[in-house]
Amino acid sequence: MVKICCIGAGYVGGPTMAVIALKCPDIEVAVVDISVPRITAWNSDQLPIYEPGLEDVVKQCRGKNLFFSTDVERHVYEADIVFVSVNTPTKTRGLGAGKAADLTYWESAARMIADVSKSDKIVVEKSTVPVKTAEAIEKILTHNSNGINFQILSNPEFLAEGTAIEDLFKPDRVLIGGRETPEGQKAIKTLKDVYAHWVPEENIITTNLWSAELSKLAANAFLAQRISSVNAMSALCEATGANVSEVSYAVGKDTRIGPKFLNSSVGFGGSCFQKDILNLVYICECNGLPEVAEYWRQVIKINDYQKSRFVNRVVASMFNTVSNKKIAILGFAFKKDTGDTRETPAIDVCKGLLGDKARLSIYDPQVTEDQIQRDLSMNKFDWDHPLHLQPMSPTTVKQVSVVWDAYAAAKDSHAVCILTEWNEFKTLDFQRIYDNMQKPAFVFDGRNVVDIEKLREIGFIVYSIGKPLDGWLKDMPAVA
Ligand code: UDX
Ligand code: UDX
Ligand code: ADP
Repeated sequence: MVKICCIGAGYVGGPTMAVIALKCPDIEVAVVDISVPRITAWNSDQLPIYEPGLEDVVKQCRGKNLFFSTDVERHVYEADIVFVSVNTPTKTRGLGAGKAADLTYWESAARMIADVSKSDKIVVEKSTVPVKTAEAIEKILTHNSNGINFQILSNPEFLAEGTAIEDLFKPDRVLIGGRETPEGQKAIKTLKDVYAHWVPEENIITTNLWSAELSKLAANAFLAQRISSVNAMSALCEATGANVSEVSYAVGKDTRIGPKFLNSSVGFGGSCFQKDILNLVYICECNGLPEVAEYWRQVIKINDYQKSRFVNRVVASMFNTVSNKKIAILGFAFKKDTGDTRETPAIDVCKGLLGDKARLSIYDPQVTEDQIQRDLSMNKFDWDHPLHLQPMSPTTVKQVSVVWDAYAAAKDSHAVCILTEWNEFKTLDFQRIYDNMQKPAFVFDGRNVVDIEKLREIGFIVYSIGKPLDGWLKDMPAVA
């Protein structure tokens, strides 16, 4: 029986390994992590991440051929294939601070693999890492190998949160990069055989190591660039009276462009886009390509601009002050159907409003109060460290309350800001919300989920990203 061990039981490692276990009953899969609470949660009825369909998959395999454990070394020792899916935060100090990936966790995992291994192993890069990381890891492993053969593969994961299980069941492609030597090709074949249990052969792409590593950064950069492109257009739409949804639809009808990923928003979030682009920027700079670096940096700049443009719109519309006004925040996760808040635009928007002394009442169906408080008191880039290294009791932000219902959040507020596109926000009783708010009552829709006309009929002053402005908003101070 082939044995797989995955180091890192996070958003990528957990769901990916659960699906491998489900699709490959002949393979034993162990997911290991240094975080005791995380592993305890994986072994309980309350999984540590919310992902539609995940619980069902885990329940079918857990205890049969899927195991979650903190005994990292034993499982690595026993495995034929070791996936590494640990955090790769953005460096906050030293060389490349604010851009480069911090490979501390990766390096410590690699050294541990070298220490405990007594048999040949295939080591698979699963977390997104800078191009040429495989080479560094290969050096660590081979210089500490004691005669053991390690083959390094890059097998980046393309799943998106909220649809992870769907994406894993039917991936657009599986990408496997490896050395062009006979041993490298053999390792590629071994990993290919795992995926071939359920992925059609023509969807499994094999490349050299560097192409696989760079493809992941490139794919995320292209996706993020689409969003920044449509968000840049949204600002122009508001200025000209065009409607960004109509523009997106018309543009996306061109088959060369395609209709997906053209929804204008308050900004993209998530653990990958910003981190991967910053990384790409850093790699370009290190390779003497400042023009290319600048090109990609602009994607992040527009994203930051979009978030601050939203905050400015809120403040400017409300007579240039939100001081001590209650504002309801609907949605905190970085997108719907996930409880994940990593790099969510809600953090920057809330911090911006708090900076102007607003009082915030926040509701998200999947994010806990603890998480929200932690996010609002943490410094940029500090989130991407294992749970046990994060502050246990973050300082509470006093102007913030977290409630468990959209109506409670909106009660007595001056404005409602929608920051995540949860389906339930589309069917809220806005008349009821309006009746319980201060007047004039504002809705700022950062995800284009509400029916603007209907809300205006009720009496709201409505701002929706990239949509023709309410007469009221046109008269307010210009928004930079
Ligand atoms: C992304 C990639 O899609 C995935 O392939 C990669 O493996 C990891 O990074 P993820 O971050 O989970 O996945 O979610 P994604 O659906 O890509 O959304 C990222 C952000 O972009 C979210 O904040 C989302 O709301 C935003 N977004 C997405 C938009 O603002 N508009 C869109 O049209 C699409
Ligand atoms: C373009 C638009 O495609 C068309 O919709 C619009 O009406 C007019 O402008 P055109 O300029 O005739 O049409 O040709 P197009 O096929 O778009 O190519 C434009 C340039 O891009 C060419 O120099 C082409 O060689 C180049 N190109 C195109 C690339 O370098 N790479 C590509 O992948 C595609
Ligand atoms: P991703 O979104 O890429 O899956 P996560 O942050 O959700 O990232 O998960 C990474 C996991 O890796 C965390 O649970 C963390 O505790 C774990 N981890 C980090 N370093 C190690 C290590 N050396 N050994 C085992 N687990 C580790």
